[in-house]
Amino acid sequence: MSAGVEPSRTRHPLPPVRWPGAEEAARARWFSPARVGPLPVADRTWVPAMVPWRATEDGFVTDEVLDWYARFAAGQPGVLVVEATGVRDVPSGPLLRIGDDRFVPGLRRLVETVRTRSGGRTRLFIQVLDFLVVKRRPEPARFFGRFLDVDAALRHRLADATGDPGWDEAPEAAVRARLLDAHGRDRALVDRVLTPVQREALDYGYRERVTDTHLPWIRDLPRVLPGLFAGAARRARDAGFDGVELHYAHAYTLASFLSRLNTRDDGYGGPRPQRARLPLEVLRAVRERVGHDWVVGIRFLGDDVVEGGSRVDDAAWFGVRFAEAGVDYLSVSKGGRFEDARQPKVGEAVYPYTGVSGHECMPTVVSDARGPFGRNVPLAAAIRQAVRAAGHETPVVTSGGIASFDQAEAILARGEADFVAAARQSLADPDWFRKVRLGLGHLVRRCQFTNYCEGLDQRHKQVTCKLWDRVALDEPGVRLASDGRRRLNAPPWAPDASA
Ligand SMILES: Cc1cc2nc3c(=O)[nH]c(=O)nc-3n(C[C@H](O)[C@H](O)[C@H](O)COP(=O)(O)O)c2cc1C
Ligand code: SF4
Repeated sequence: MSAGVEPSRTRHPLPPVRWPGAEEAARARWFSPARVGPLPVADRTWVPAMVPWRATEDGFVTDEVLDWYARFAAGQPGVLVVEATGVRDVPSGPLLRIGDDRFVPGLRRLVETVRTRSGGRTRLFIQVLDFLVVKRRPEPARFFGRFLDVDAALRHRLADATGDPGWDEAPEAAVRARLLDAHGRDRALVDRVLTPVQREALDYGYRERVTDTHLPWIRDLPRVLPGLFAGAARRARDAGFDGVELHYAHAYTLASFLSRLNTRDDGYGGPRPQRARLPLEVLRAVRERVGHDWVVGIRFLGDDVVEGGSRVDDAAWFGVRFAEAGVDYLSVSKGGRFEDARQPKVGEAVYPYTGVSGHECMPTVVSDARGPFGRNVPLAAAIRQAVRAAGHETPVVTSGGIASFDQAEAILARGEADFVAAARQSLADPDWFRKVRLGLGHLVRRCQFTNYCEGLDQRHKQVTCKLWDRVALDEPGVRLASDGRRRLNAPPWAPDASA
């Protein structure tokens, strides 16, 4: 499939699964110990970052956040990665933040909760990120009435497009009114008068890019980001996490620096070494701040899956550079970019997990001929191969449509990855790793890969799973979502009760 092209899709059934007995599981690669840099890890199971929309509006840890991670910890994965957490001290809705020391006590409680609930088995990393401004798609009346910048150039384009030179001198209010009127009746005129950036702001909502170097704060990103990430990593260490994951994937700032679409001409865009420059400077600053005896990992894209974006050969090259620079693990994701996202409704923000690149990031059963299961593994395999060929032992983590023991074992046996991660399967059944390890795989609640959870994320609603969020709502102490109709966490499970 070429990037950005919508393939024809069919609905795939969930494949049959075979679960191992406890003895086979005990011998399995997936449940064998490993290391991540300096850190021993009990086994090679992994829950990657998932945003649950449970923090306060100010970005603090809440009891709901603690419950969410406690629930995953009860399943005792080898590694659990806390959701994307903002490195800046700026408002970001109910997403976690780590841009100031006042966030540390809450994060410390989160660490203690996971230690206790996993019996000390699960290693805990926190994903840290920076993101640029994305505004909601505006009402046309507000866009033309307020947001649109009416300057001499725009007046001139209107004069040209209408053949009426009077618009060069017309009052601003008249220009705005004329364009709003044209929006309803003569869209072609609007398209001729607005610049591509203005058209995007009207149709999708205004969005900053790393290439907007005319904006001082975008030009300054290489100056400010290393310090912001280093500060965030130091706080994560102070809070007691086992490591930090630098979020260089999906639609966020550092992924956009790595992308082939990054054409900055200030030494931080263009050829690969220049695109990797800021991500490497951030990694170095983090390392200097936290030392070498604590885990620093990177999540990045094996393929942007957008027209003109980076492909796996870029990713393999980046992986080798990160390994040379001393990163402790590489977690490979795919797609999830803004460039091909679906047009949002008026009042909503563009969501990077919608278009083709979004499907590649969180594939569903409605997929092309290859289906959703393990479809991103070849990217991790190619990156791992390049890293090994360059003489580095850096572990590689793969994820994307992985939901069975045999799948995970085969990936490890073929040397395609060193850790096998599952996000949605772990949401569907947070106990699934433990069930499989205990030989109770037949009790696993299998993810349906239809993305109800992702739909909630898209609408910034508390994320739950359709397989359990209406179950036993009257159970004592059950915590409900703000809509009052869903439980926030999977029902508890204990081996003795159900074996
Ligand atoms: C609700 C939800 C939230 C997510 N949030 C993040 C995130 O904060 N950071 C990240 O790197 N990936 C995030 N992801 C992507 C997952 O980590 C994972 O890469 C993706 O779901 C594919 O893996 P899976 O098939 O095992 O679910 C999220 C996925 C879901 C479903
Ligand atoms: S909501 Fe659907 S896709 Fe999401 S975890 Fe549950 S079963 Fe899987």
